[in-house]
Amino acid sequence: MTKVTVLGAAGGIGQPLSLLLKMSPFVSTLALYDLRLAPGVARDLSHINTNSKCKGFDKENLPAALEGAHVVVIPAGVPRKPGMTRDDLFKINAGIVANLVAATAKHAPNARILIISNPVNSTVPVACETLKRSGSFQPGKVMGVTTLDVVRAQTFLSDALGGDSYSRESMKRHVTVVGGHSGSTIVPLITDSKLRAKLVNRRLYDAYVHRVQFGGDEVVEAKQGAGSATLSMALAGFHFTNQVLRSIHLEPLDVAPLPAFVYLPGIEGGRELQAKLQTQAEYFAAPVQLSRGDVARVESQWLENITDAEKKSLATCLGELDTNIQKGRRFVQSKL
Ligand code: NAI
Repeated sequence: MTKVTVLGAAGGIGQPLSLLLKMSPFVSTLALYDLRLAPGVARDLSHINTNSKCKGFDKENLPAALEGAHVVVIPAGVPRKPGMTRDDLFKINAGIVANLVAATAKHAPNARILIISNPVNSTVPVACETLKRSGSFQPGKVMGVTTLDVVRAQTFLSDALGGDSYSRESMKRHVTVVGGHSGSTIVPLITDSKLRAKLVNRRLYDAYVHRVQFGGDEVVEAKQGAGSATLSMALAGFHFTNQVLRSIHLEPLDVAPLPAFVYLPGIEGGRELQAKLQTQAEYFAAPVQLSRGDVARVESQWLENITDAEKKSLATCLGELDTNIQKGRRFVQSKL
C-alpha cells in the first residue's frame, strides 16, 4: 500500500503528473492537494479504471492530504513568463515550499519529498533548512527533481546527431546531466565518446550544451506568457517518482539511475563528491542510488571520464550554484 500526495496537483504540471501517477501499479492511494480545484481534478481521475484510489483536498485539508503519505511530490508555485529566469520565482516559491515542507514534516514525517517547484537550486536548500529547523531532517528523503534536463539532453542529442540514425530512446544510455537545474548550472555529460566526438567534429557541441541549458526558454517563449514546461515536466517528474516507487517496492530499475539534486554532506558518497569537485557547495545533482525509496548513495564515478569541455562547464556551474544555494539557506535563516 503506497500513498502518494501531490501538492499543487491542479496546476499545469500537477494535473498530467497526477494522471500518470493514477496509471501506476505502485500507487494505491493518490491524494491531490491544491489551493484550487483539487477535488474536481481528483473526481475526474477517480473515474479511471485503475486500482488506486484518488481523493482531492482543498486548502483547508492539507493535513489529511499528507497523513500516511510515503511520497510527497511538490509542483506547487508559480511558473516563469517570457523574460524571467527561474531565480525570479524565488520570492514567491520559497515561501510556498517552506510552508508545504513544514506541513509534510508534521503530518508525514517519513515521506520522501520530491521538489519540482523552481528555482530547484534554491528551493531544495529551503526545504532542507526548514526540516533542519524542525529537527526532522532526513537527507536521503529530500530530492530535487532535475529529470527534465535529462529528458531534454537525450532528445536534443538525438536531434543534433540526426534523429533517424540515433533514436531518442537509444540516447538513454549515452547522456546524463549533473550540477543544478538552471541555465549554466545544468551540465550535460555525454558518456559515449564516439557520439561526443561526432558532435565536436560537426561543431555542434557548444550549441547542443546551450540548448540543454536553456531549452526551458524555448517552451516559455512558445507559450507566450501562459507558463513553462508542463507536459514534458509531468513525464519527467513521473519517471523520477516511478524510480522512487520501484525502489520502495523492491523492483529493480528499468533504466540507469536518474540524477537528483541532494544535500551532499548527509548522504553516503556526498563528501567524497564534494572533495573530488573541490567545492564547498553542499547541494548538487548527480545520479543517485536508492534504497527503499530513499537516496542511499550519490555517485561520483562519472567524474572519471569527463572531458576538458565538461570540466569547464562544471567549474562555471559550481561558481553559480553556491550563490543559489546560499539564497535558499538565507531565506530560512532570516525567518529565525
Ligand atoms: P501552475 O501555475 O500551472 O501550477 C501551480 C499550482 O500550484 C497551481 O494550481 C496553484 O494553485 C498551486 N499552488 C500555489 N501555491 C500553492 C500552495 N501554497 N499549496 C498548494 N498549491 C499551491 O505552474 P506549473 O506550470 O505547474 O509549475 C509549477 C512549478 O514547477 C513552477 O515553480 C515551475 O517553475 C516549476 N517547474 C519545474 C521544473 C523542473 O524541472 N523542476 C520544470 C518546469 C516547471
